[in-house]
Amino acid sequence: MIEARGLTKRFGDKLAVDGLSFAVEPGRITGFLGPNGAGKTTTMRLILGLDRPTHGSVTVNGKDFRQLASPMREVGALLDANAVHGGRSAYNHLLCLAQTNNLPPRRVGELLELVGLTGVAGKRSKGFSLGMGQRLGIAAALLGDPAILMFDEPVNGLDPEGILWIRNLMKRLAGEGRTVFVSSHLMSEMENTADHLIVIGRGRLIADCSVAEFIEHNSAQAVRVRTPQPDALVAAVRRAGASVTAAGNAIVVQGMAADRVGDLAFANGVPLHELTPAQASLEEAFMELTAASVEFHAGEPAPAGAGAARDDAGAAHDDARAARDDAGGRVHTGGVA
Ligand SMILES: Nc1ncnc2c1ncn2[C@@H]1O[C@H](COP(=O)(O)OP(=O)(O)OP(=O)(O)O)[C@@H](O)[C@H]1O
Ligand SMILES: [Mg+2]
Repeated sequence: MIEARGLTKRFGDKLAVDGLSFAVEPGRITGFLGPNGAGKTTTMRLILGLDRPTHGSVTVNGKDFRQLASPMREVGALLDANAVHGGRSAYNHLLCLAQTNNLPPRRVGELLELVGLTGVAGKRSKGFSLGMGQRLGIAAALLGDPAILMFDEPVNGLDPEGILWIRNLMKRLAGEGRTVFVSSHLMSEMENTADHLIVIGRGRLIADCSVAEFIEHNSAQAVRVRTPQPDALVAAVRRAGASVTAAGNAIVVQGMAADRVGDLAFANGVPLHELTPAQASLEEAFMELTAASVEFHAGEPAPAGAGAARDDAGAAHDDARAARDDAGGRVHTGGVA
């Protein structure tokens, strides 16, 4: 269990963490979300005693991290995968950690196997790829068999197989009753991984709830409809108080359940070719919620002639995807596309 109370960190005139109070409970994966610069890494550093709070406090199993007698047995953390002596082999890096923390050396071989680095155990870590470095960092975090695990953006640099692997690893760790606290700007990743969410923006707590609650409270209800008589349906749903937007050859009805849209179509004799409740993704809900607290906005790219022939829906989809791929959480694309 990790507990923060009024946790605050100021760097000069920059308030990086602003009065955060939350608890990270055991037995589930808690996703820690926020746009770039929101204060996620700083919060994790405060938890690990690497920075001192300006105000407030944070405890690990009821104690200040610095008071823990055997920290690696209580908390395992991966904050910076590059924080490794590059001249040491993967094996020696872990062995060194085991020896200085009074952990059994046999764990080193077990962990290298678990993270899939046995084949390169004798290689110097400075030659490792980003993903290999992440795996080594995860091995180090698990070395003391701790009940609390904290990972700062662990999927950065991992290939799809690696992402699936770490997702399953975290689920297993939480299933064993451990506390798993993981930050990410990949909302789609959290949607598939986390049970609970703590969302921050500009150092402040924005939400502390389950993934399902988060989506429900932060996204508008939308239904995608295709019909050969769009004008009649648009008129009917507007009369009933819903709003409508065009999406290529379909229309999207906002603020009305799919059943009701279907009933209205039937009552007005409008045939339907598609009626799909569009559950907003966590990504969309997150962007909507943090819109006001996004600090770094990317500029608009110059329009490219090649995309002009695409239909509106395709272009919007591509733009949103490009924004996610290129800039992670830095970009705010303006809510639900
Ligand atoms: N040592 C420091 N000195 C001054 N400012 C700092 C320091 N560490 C962090 N900050 C500032 O505090 C804010 C929060 O940074 P932090 O790294 O915690 O954000 P983050 O949520 O981890 O972002 P990202 O998603 O980009 O990793 C930023 O504005 C950052 O510039
Ligand atoms: Mg960070």
